[in-house]
Amino acid sequence: MPGTRPACAAGSPARLPGRPPSDRPQGSRPSAPAEPRAAAESRPRAASPAYAADMTSTDPPVPASGDPLPAPGNPLRQLTLAELRRRTSEKWRAHPPDVLPLFVAEMDVPLAEPVRRAVGEALARGDTGYTRGSAYAEAYAGFARRRWGWDGVAAERTTVVPDVMTGVLEVLAAISGPEDTVVVNSPVYTPFYDYVRHTGRTVDEAPLGGDLRLDTAALEDAYRRASARGGNPVHLLCNPHNPTGTVHTAGELAAVAELAARWGVRVVADEIHAPVVDPGTRFTPYLSVPGAGAGWSVLSASKAWNLAGLRAGLAVAGPDAAEDVARVPVWVAAATSHIGVIAHTAALTEGGPWLDALLAGLADNRRLLTTLLAEQLPEVRYRPAPGTYLAWLDCREAGLGDDPAAVFLERGRVAVNSGPAFGSGGAGHVRLNLATSPEVLAEAVRRMAHARR
Ligand SMILES: Cc1ncc(COP(=O)(O)O)c(C=O)c1O
Repeated sequence: MPGTRPACAAGSPARLPGRPPSDRPQGSRPSAPAEPRAAAESRPRAASPAYAADMTSTDPPVPASGDPLPAPGNPLRQLTLAELRRRTSEKWRAHPPDVLPLFVAEMDVPLAEPVRRAVGEALARGDTGYTRGSAYAEAYAGFARRRWGWDGVAAERTTVVPDVMTGVLEVLAAISGPEDTVVVNSPVYTPFYDYVRHTGRTVDEAPLGGDLRLDTAALEDAYRRASARGGNPVHLLCNPHNPTGTVHTAGELAAVAELAARWGVRVVADEIHAPVVDPGTRFTPYLSVPGAGAGWSVLSASKAWNLAGLRAGLAVAGPDAAEDVARVPVWVAAATSHIGVIAHTAALTEGGPWLDALLAGLADNRRLLTTLLAEQLPEVRYRPAPGTYLAWLDCREAGLGDDPAAVFLERGRVAVNSGPAFGSGGAGHVRLNLATSPEVLAEAVRRMAHARR
């Protein structure tokens, strides 16, 4: 019934899962105007003090520019649905207002204070010209050193890029030709197909294994096929993996590097989700593993700090790929937003405590989703994974056909991503964006359960 709200969605008081109410954290936004009383419109609660105790950040808690910031509360609990619906970005404008949007990788969070401050200061001084300099590279180098103990980012082997997918396409153009093959690990982020095919290149799939991890035998088969076609084959790796949230281990990545060297394949690692990894799991940058020196990494602060509207990213060449950097045309860096670079630099430099609070909130949401699905949609399989804020749901036993997202949207008024768009292995699956409040997550599962009845 298109356009019909499920009876459970409106009017009745929500059964609110999660932590008991507590006060808003210091430094959070002032209270908003009166809001609708619908269940999912209720104000999310602030983080409990347990979050602060959990924080393990090694990032500097005091910004270089001024006063100490209060420890941030869970950013996923600071905005109401009514406040979010005033946003005009894709997440909030692609569907009518009766739809709960848990699709595109935007987060329901306020801007991290250090980013807001850096952008505000830049606007105040009219610093809105062309971008220049190595601030982004240095900020990322420092972040990688503090978070992952990796000291491998040399500013002269980097270039700023307008965003990650543009960066990926420009790196592909620098190291391969339009006749070449690009290997991907299906199911994977949809633009790895569309955008790459648009350049003329052939996409070949090396599916993930049944455990949703890299399958080195399938990868070697794909490398063998790509190498037999000749030219300059590339492996576009997603680390951590979208949509499954798999965080590849150092051993898996070293195996990739070894196979790539053996078959003459260049690896380009999309590491946009790198900061969004549960503290209990170790993230390994691809370029940090032995034998990966001919590879590239393309990354951005945009996923972890919700900065897609402040477009910027960074492409990092491995030590053996240094000569490629000059083949990326200068207008790629020139097309990058200077305000974006300022925002991303502030996030990477001073946004550690905010990120830690986010990661704690995401861990709570993964646990909550597991519980809610077990209670209300037990036929949907979810394997919580430590990376990204995306949940890959196997709905094949729910009897909703190849594209359950269409059913959830039409009957449940919940927007999640269609599994088949992620390539082989996507049929019968959906991707759900967990970066929302526990209340919205609970309402979404309630609607999805209603939709399959
Ligand atoms: C793996 C991956 N790469 C790239 C992007 C897009 O990044 P950008 O907007 O910087 O091109 C996304 C967005 O969700 C993503 O998940």
